[in-house]
Formats: sequence, C-alpha cells, structure tokens
Amino acid sequence: MTELPRPTPDDISALVRADRVHRRLYTDPAIFALEMERIFGRTWLFVAHESQFAKPGDILRTRMGLEDVLVTRDRDGAIHVVLNRCAHRGAAICTQERSHAPSLVCPYHGWAFALDGAVTSVPHRPSMPAGFDMADPARSLARAPRVESYRGFVFASFAETGHSLTQHLGVMTEIFDNLIDRSPDGEIEQAGGMFRQVYRGNWKLHHENANDTLHAGYTHESSVAAARDDKRDYATPAFDDHLTHVQMLSNQFGVREWEKTGIWGAPGGHSYMGGIHEKGVMSTDDLDPVAAELRARIAAKQGEDRADEILGMNRYNNLVWPNVSVNAQHQQLRVVTPLAVDKTMVTAMCFRLKGAPERQFQRAVRILNNISSPASTILVDDIEIFERTQHGLTNDAADWIDLSRGIDIETPTNDGRLAAGGISDLPIRGQYNEWLQYMTAA
Ligand code: FES
Ligand SMILES: [Fe+2]
Repeated sequence: MTELPRPTPDDISALVRADRVHRRLYTDPAIFALEMERIFGRTWLFVAHESQFAKPGDILRTRMGLEDVLVTRDRDGAIHVVLNRCAHRGAAICTQERSHAPSLVCPYHGWAFALDGAVTSVPHRPSMPAGFDMADPARSLARAPRVESYRGFVFASFAETGHSLTQHLGVMTEIFDNLIDRSPDGEIEQAGGMFRQVYRGNWKLHHENANDTLHAGYTHESSVAAARDDKRDYATPAFDDHLTHVQMLSNQFGVREWEKTGIWGAPGGHSYMGGIHEKGVMSTDDLDPVAAELRARIAAKQGEDRADEILGMNRYNNLVWPNVSVNAQHQQLRVVTPLAVDKTMVTAMCFRLKGAPERQFQRAVRILNNISSPASTILVDDIEIFERTQHGLTNDAADWIDLSRGIDIETPTNDGRLAAGGISDLPIRGQYNEWLQYMTAA
C-alpha cells in the first residue's frame, strides 16, 4: 500500500478559518490518518463505564480510534486497557464484546497474558531462542499507558504524558457528577442493552450535530408531523406515559424557542446545550408522578435544596470531545468511533439510577429506543443527513463549509466558557479550535 502524503502543520492550518473549514477535513484519508495519530492516539478517550466490567476477571472489548482494545479488571480490581493483539504473531485474543476469564490466552499458539497484559507463559520454551526474554515488554500485550476513571467513567490515553483526565474534562465533570447525583443511592449502572449503528460519513459530522438545535425542525420534520397529526389525550394512560409522543413533538420548536435554550462552549472542544422540556413527562416537573417520586427519594437522602440543585441542572446534549456525548437528564450516553474517513460507528446506551423508581429506568430505555435505535424516528434522520453531507462534500466544485452562525454574538462567561443563544455554530468552532491544536502539535 502506498503511504499517504503527510499533511504538514501549514497544510492543516490552511484548511481551518474562524468561520469556515475546508471540505478535505471530511474526505481526505491522509487527514483522517493524522487525526487517528494525533487526536485519537493522544487525547483521553472514553472507553467504558465501570459497571460494564464490575467484577475481577471481567473483560470488555471496545475501540480507541482504530485500535481494538480490551478493558479488563484484574484480581485486585485495577483497570487496564490492552491492545487486542497477541504479542506473538498478532492474532486477536478476544472476539466477544464481553467476557470473563482469569487471564488472556491466545487461541493461536497459546501464549498467556495476565489481565494487565503481562505475558505469563509461552508454550514450549525450548523452541524459543536463547535470548528470548519474557521480561522484554515487547513480549507482553501493548497497553494504553494512562487509564483513569472519573467516578466510574473510564477513559484511556495512548499518550504517556499530557493533561490529567480531570484537566481534560474541565467543566464537563459537572455532567458526569450530575448523572450520578440523580441516583438516590449515588450510584449508576449501565443497563438495558446497547445500540450500535454505522453510518457512511465522517466522525465529526455526529459531533457537529450534537448541539445543533435548529436542524431538528427540518431534519426531523416527518416525526414532528406524525406526532402533530396524532391528537393524544394525555389523560388516557399509555404504556410509555406518552413519552414518545412528547419527545417527537418537542422537535417542532421554532427559532425563538431554540434560541432560548442556549449553547455553551468550554475549553477542550467540549460543549452543551440547555434543556428542552420545561413541563411534563420528560421534565423534572413535580406534577409528573415518576419525577416527583425521584425527587422525594433524592431529597430524603440529600435534603430538599440539594434535590432542587441536582434536578435543576437543565442541560440536554453534553459533548465531551472527541468521542462521547452525555445526557444526564435522561441517563443516555453515546460513544462515537471513527472507522474510516467516511465511516463512523455510534454506540448508544443508557443507565439505571440506583435507588430510583423502576419507571425512571423504563423511561431511560424508552428514550434510548426513541433516539438511538435503528428503528428510531430521530437518529435515522440524522444519519441520513450525515450521509447526504458526506456525499455533498465529495463534490469538489466548492471547497468551504460555513460555520459562521452566531459568531458575532458569543459572550465569554466569567469562568472561561463561551455562551450563545441556542442557534449558533459556537460548539463546532470550539471543536475545530481544539482539533487544530492537536493536529498541528509536534
Ligand atoms: S499469535 Fe498468539 S500465540 Fe501465536
Ligand atoms: Fe437530530
């Protein structure tokens, strides 16, 4: 295979301007290769929630960028992330998404590794040359040198040094805290299955859409119209407490309502949007019996004021650049994994708030189905748009993509964030600021 020409820092800087970016950022395999090396090969990436591999010996298979990795918990409870590639001749050691074993044994020639990746035995040692040294790190599984958990959310980095995880997360720790604080027992677990979809488009298209409010009324018009035609009587009981109907209808916001939700950008390429639902089944409205019960259980443990504070954090999508999006209100999380310059995998999951009414968890599962399943009336619309955008960008008659919405009306907050009305490309500009720093760093 011929090596792709390596873009220089000058080449890359020329493709990003304050209010626009060049289409090559979405279509050029050489740029993609560099993103995998400089962004996904260096920064902190979300890999798993600790509840997904809770017991010693639990193994979870996932990806860090293009790398196939195993997240393991050893006998002492320590967490490791090792490459799913035997140190002998390269066979993948594990093909299951989740497994449980005391060690990792390669199915090819039986080399065995501890759960931290250290080689422990090699069959028929006499056949190995005299200088064969088990202590040579090259005989063990390659590993992510840095693995840290922020309150159960596990991140790993292929870089030996750099920002700590909390420095990387910055103010976005607030959203992980809020998701956990919503549990009356102060504990959450990933439950209710997961969805995984692959779209034919660049990974950045997902993130650019995460906090793009205005698209909803256009891209999701068909589900809004279907919900509008269906004149529900909310007094009549429904299996999902009418949640799906309410959710579909909420995309009918006009510009004034979207603008009111607000958008915030934070250092690190992170961003979030304000909440959408003020009343009803998708809000923390006390009139909703499930929300009222959840509130009462939090208040019983933490007091009324703290319950108000926790449930009052009104944010919808929270993008933790570059690979995870969180919604604490509805206990949702999405991981975005680049597969190729024009191919991306989205893995979506939800969480159970321990100590919360079971109905709260059922709603989280319902919302996961509504927004992230292959039968969703929402994500499929977004995927259609990602693929259309990717298709449009392969057209080389025009080179630049506009990111100027709201550029003149961003306001710095006194704690280092940028704030704007809900209809703004502020989050995308913030993502490209960070992107450019990683992509041009030595
Ligand atoms: S490739 Fe794994 S033991 Fe040979
Ligand atoms: Fe959407």
